[in-house]
Amino acid sequence: MHVPFCRHRCGYCDFVTAVGRQSEHDEYVDALLRELDERQELLAGSLDTVFVGGGTPTYLESGALGRLLSSLPPAHEVTVEANPETVTPVLAELLGAQGVTRISLGAQTFESDLLAVLERQATPEVVRRAFTTLRGAGFTNVSLDLIYGIPGQRPEQLGADVAAVLELEPEHVSVYELEAKPGTRFTSAHGAELRRQIDRLEEYMELATAGLQAGGYRWYETANFCRTRHGDPRDLRSQHNLAYWLAADYVGLGVGAVSTVGSERWKNMASVTRYVSALRSGTAPARTTEHLSAAVRTWERAMLGLRLDEPLAEAEISSVLEPGGLDLMAARGLLERRDGSILLTRRGRLLGNAVTVELLRDLDDPADCDEPRTAQGTSKQVAGRR
Ligand SMILES: C[S@@+](CC[C@H](N)C(=O)[O-])C[C@H]1O[C@@H](n2cnc3c(N)ncnc32)[C@H](O)[C@@H]1O
Ligand code: SF4
Repeated sequence: MHVPFCRHRCGYCDFVTAVGRQSEHDEYVDALLRELDERQELLAGSLDTVFVGGGTPTYLESGALGRLLSSLPPAHEVTVEANPETVTPVLAELLGAQGVTRISLGAQTFESDLLAVLERQATPEVVRRAFTTLRGAGFTNVSLDLIYGIPGQRPEQLGADVAAVLELEPEHVSVYELEAKPGTRFTSAHGAELRRQIDRLEEYMELATAGLQAGGYRWYETANFCRTRHGDPRDLRSQHNLAYWLAADYVGLGVGAVSTVGSERWKNMASVTRYVSALRSGTAPARTTEHLSAAVRTWERAMLGLRLDEPLAEAEISSVLEPGGLDLMAARGLLERRDGSILLTRRGRLLGNAVTVELLRDLDDPADCDEPRTAQGTSKQVAGRR
C-alpha cells in the first residue's frame, strides 16, 4: 500500500512522492480504502503480510493514518515504513494500538555529514531516539535501512554505521547501494563524487556483510539481514519481501503501486490528483497492464531466487538458464551445485547481478522464449528495495 506524502523531498529519492499536501491526506486515505474494496476479490481470505510504504506513511495526519490502519485486512505481519523525525511516543502508540507488528525505519546512515548530503531531516540522535521510542512502545520487530555509496562517504564511516546498528540490535537490517538517477539535481550536484564512489561499492558491500554477519545477523538476501542471536525462535526475515523474492502474487494499492497476480502485472499511474478523483467518482484508477509470459515469470523467479541464501531447484529454472552458464560460474567458484539445486557462493553473492547476467538467458532474444519479454522485475521494483 503506497502513501506518497513526505514532509520534504530528499535529494536522492526517486519514489512516487508528494511534498506536504496535508489537506489531501484524508481524501487520499478514502481513495486507498476504496481501491482496497475494489480489489477485495483478489485478496486471499487471510493475508500473510501487509506493507504500508511510501513516501512516508507516518507523515500522514494522525486521523487519516489511524483510519487507514484500522481498516487494513488482518495479516500475520503488518509493516509500516517510518521516517525517524516522525516517530514520537504518540505515533508509536497509535501504530501499536492499530495492530502494526513491524516497523521499517529509514536510518540511512548515522553520520551527520552524510545525512546532510542525502538531504535527510533527521540527525543521528533523532534516528537513535526514534528507535528507542519504538522499543519503548513495545515493538519487538524493527528493521533499519542503511545506504552506502553516499557522496563523500569513507569505508570507515560505513564501518561506524554497522557498529551503530549492532549497538541498537534491530531484528532486521537492509543495506542498499545508493541509486542516483541520471539527470537529477542530486546527480548533477554530486556527479564526480558519485563516480568515485562506484569504485568502492564492492568494498562497502563486503564490509557491511562481514560486519553484520560477525555481529550475529544472517545475510539471507543480497541486501537484507536478520538477527539470529539471543535465542530468538522467530524467523525474522521480512516475510513481505520474501514473498516477492519467491515470486508470490501480490496486490499493490495507491499511486504508482504495482500488482502481480498470475500472468498479469499492472501499475497504477503516479498522479495523486487523478488517483483520488477516479476513485472518488467510483471508477478504477488509470493503470497500465502487461501480460507476463511463463518464461518471464520463471526468469524473475530465477533472478530473485538467486539473491537468497537458500538453494534454488535447478529444474524449476532450467528453461531460462544460459547453456553452459552453471558450469562456467561453478568453475569460477561463484556457484555451488548440490543435489539438483544451485546456490551462489559468498563471492558470487557479492558480485550479484554480474553473475545472474551470465547465468540467465536474455529473454529479448525471440529464440529464447515463447513471447518477447514484457517485464523484468528489477530488485527495486519487485523486491520493494526496498
Ligand atoms: C520507500 S523508501 C522510503 C522510506 C522512508 N520515507 C525514508 O525515507 O526513510 C525505503 C528505503 O529505500 C531506500 N532508498 C530510497 N531511495 C533510495 C535510493 N535512491 N538508493 C538506494 N536506496 C534508496 C532507503 O533506505 C529507504 O529507507
Ligand atoms: S527518501 Fe523517504 S522521506 Fe525522502 S523523499 Fe523519498 S520517500 Fe520521502
